Amino acid sequence: MEVKIFETKEQMGIYAADIIENVMKSKEFPVLGLATGDTPITTYNELIKRYKNGEISFKNVKTYNLDEYVGLPKNDKNSYYTFMHEHLFDKVDIDSENIHIPDGNPADIEKFCREYDREIDDAGGIDIQFLGIGRNGHIGFNEPSDKFTEGTYKVKLTESTIEANKRFFEKESDVPKYAVTMGIKNIMKAREIILMAYGFNKAEAVKNMIEGPVSPSCPASILQNHPNVHVILDKDASSLLKK
Ligand code: PGA
Repeated sequence: MEVKIFETKEQMGIYAADIIENVMKSKEFPVLGLATGDTPITTYNELIKRYKNGEISFKNVKTYNLDEYVGLPKNDKNSYYTFMHEHLFDKVDIDSENIHIPDGNPADIEKFCREYDREIDDAGGIDIQFLGIGRNGHIGFNEPSDKFTEGTYKVKLTESTIEANKRFFEKESDVPKYAVTMGIKNIMKAREIILMAYGFNKAEAVKNMIEGPVSPSCPASILQNHPNVHVILDKDASSLLKK
């Protein structure tokens, strides 16, 4: 794991955008694995800026998002479909056919999940996967558990995740209790990974991810076994690390 520590989240976004730009320029048809939440916003803003300056294009880019809530209409203001369009897709030259976000309301969830995995494989696999981390150590919506997950699946969200997500909803009872998420195996198959975290509230999870044992009780700890991970932190998120 390469660990880099920055002063501001804007600097973190610039560094992540440099890595993503590099991948976009080195592949004819780059495949990006994307995340939602507060964490990727400075990176997306930086990528939009570079697109507007004519430095990068998304014309040949395919994207696969990590997760989506189950039960929210696609156009709900809190769906990840809406988030991705507002924060990135509507502002760059990506072809809508190349955008893939898990369907939170499929007729047959099991069939949908197998197709999502197959589509990623058919695209040639993910060149670079962007990840945030939950306060409980989750990546995507892979919550702490007693085993590492495999392909895309429907997950019951933990109390800690529901608590963290409720800031976006009017009341806690509106927060979805289930999501569709790529599994740990999908994430580990990406050729390169960025994991970004800022703020004290992520420090414990970051410590467990980097210095703890590899254990499904901290799903992000599996990244210790991946050969090409960039961990991008601010001082607060790195504050409990020994080294
Ligand atoms: P955040 O979420 O970026 O909103 O902090 C990260 C996550 O829960 O994976």
